[in-house]
Amino acid sequence: MSDETLNTLPADEENAAAENSSALPSAVEEEETAALAQAEEEQPEEEAQPLDPNALLEVRHLKKHFPAKKDFFGRPVSFLKAVDDVSFKIEKGTTLGIVGESGCGKTTLGRTILRLQPATDGEVYFDGVDINKLNTKQMNALRPQMQIIFQDPYSSLSPRMPVGEIIGEAVAQHKLVPKTELKEYVLEVMKSCGLPYHYYERYPHEFSGGQRQRICIATALALKPRFVVCDEPVSALDVSIQAQIINLLKDMQEKMGLTYIFISHDLSVVEHISNKVGVMYLGSLVEYASTGDIFDNPMHPYTEALFSAVPIPDPDRHSKRIILSGDIPSPINAPAGCKFHTRCNHCMDICREVAPKFKDYGNGHMVACHLYPQD
Ligand SMILES: Nc1ncnc2c1ncn2[C@@H]1O[C@H](COP(=O)(O)OP(=O)(O)OP(=O)(O)O)[C@@H](O)[C@H]1O
Ligand code: SF4
Ligand SMILES: [Mg+2]
Repeated sequence: MSDETLNTLPADEENAAAENSSALPSAVEEEETAALAQAEEEQPEEEAQPLDPNALLEVRHLKKHFPAKKDFFGRPVSFLKAVDDVSFKIEKGTTLGIVGESGCGKTTLGRTILRLQPATDGEVYFDGVDINKLNTKQMNALRPQMQIIFQDPYSSLSPRMPVGEIIGEAVAQHKLVPKTELKEYVLEVMKSCGLPYHYYERYPHEFSGGQRQRICIATALALKPRFVVCDEPVSALDVSIQAQIINLLKDMQEKMGLTYIFISHDLSVVEHISNKVGVMYLGSLVEYASTGDIFDNPMHPYTEALFSAVPIPDPDRHSKRIILSGDIPSPINAPAGCKFHTRCNHCMDICREVAPKFKDYGNGHMVACHLYPQD
């Protein structure tokens, strides 16, 4: 079964499918999440802020905590905080790049936003609607509009279906085009994604990684989405093919007015494709700003260290590589205060005790660090 098929399951099949796949939340996970939400400390009520009319997606205080240890009765006693109170918004037709070291929660953030797994807490407003409050039927109706492209184009495609059928499967289930026009529509989508017509009858194993990723992109875009999470879509591809796929994503964004979250380890790619960039560390956003602002003036010591490794083609700009000391702490037992304090060269006493506020320091440049005024 393809991932897109999972996106279109009727309500009563969701739990059965989840037993065979990690793509949808299981009943057990839903229960654990509810238990966790209750167990969490009560947060003081925040005055509700109006939604930004220009934002297609607005994420507020999103959390995804996985039970890490259970007691004798199977009740969770400790949690892995993969996404820990993340807030941001993305304007329609733009791209937010998400960067951070392996294990910092990028994929979990993307999957939780798409409700492929239940959130522990927080809101995800898609076009003004909190999708965490939708019932399964309402969510299924919305799924075509919110798609994901995975890192591994080998495992994302069903090996038993020809390309035309893979791309058309969810289109047919959602009745996005009349049955009689399905083949013509699929061929049109294939063409726009650089796939020749004769691929229609062929099987995924006959293609290279780059061609398979084009098939994945065509499968997602055939559903006429408005929002796509691209989770390391070029990491598994040869460098020579990466630029072609990035350009395809950019072209399709322009043509279809798409809004992207683009997750990547490759900061040069992120700089090229993103309008805004968010930097994650141990489940939290530590900095968020326009691409120009964050690359020219990284404010958080972690961002500074991460970006110092990017080669600068401009001979007038020099950057000294900052090597971070120490390992990334466990997200099960994250350091108190600022989570980055165990590796930060600027650490002060307050950093070990008080978590810095995630604040706007002008022009929407948000940072969580005690080096900057907190009030
Ligand atoms: N289903 C799960 N159950 C328990 N822990 C999980 C689950 N999914 C992810 N995690 C944990 O959550 C943390 C964040 O994982 P995630 O895959 O989101 O990181 P990532 O930033 O995407 O990493 P990478 O760059 O390697 O892809 C990790 O510690 C991971 O082990
Ligand atoms: S809050 Fe302190 S420890 Fe954290 S990044 Fe800023 S200076 Fe470093
Ligand atoms: Mg990942």
